[in-house]
Amino acid sequence: MAIPDFIENFEELCDLAPVATAPIRHHVFVCTGKSCSARDSAEVRDAFERELTTRGILFGKAAKGKNPKGSVILTECASVGFCAIGAAVMIYPDGVWYAQVRSSDVPEIIEEHLMNGRVVKRLALMKVPAEGEVHQSESTAEWET
Ligand code: FES
Repeated sequence: MAIPDFIENFEELCDLAPVATAPIRHHVFVCTGKSCSARDSAEVRDAFERELTTRGILFGKAAKGKNPKGSVILTECASVGFCAIGAAVMIYPDGVWYAQVRSSDVPEIIEEHLMNGRVVKRLALMKVPAEGEVHQSESTAEWET
């Protein structure tokens, strides 16, 4: 069936993109650009997928072991400029950018940030929107999600 250039019917849109009706709370991006890949970002991404799936909160098709009503979207992205300090992980809507993330850090990020709303300060480097200043992660209360 050919999909028209522009779909106006809301129900049809939701049928074609079930994520539109999922209770999404967080969008996690893992950079898989060249430099982050050299820092094993694929393992970071796999760890997110494994841990989120185990917790039953990863949005996706049930046939793939995911939850159609999951609250977390996980996607790969291209370089965001943390190339020398990867792997980069960004979590929205909080706008927190993590640097130097390893697969061993993933359970902590999920438990602290996604489940309990507490930023993992030792890995957090910036928050969007940003004023163009580097935050000292130990000294600011602005990290609240
Ligand atoms: S390759 Fe990941 S931030 Fe540049």
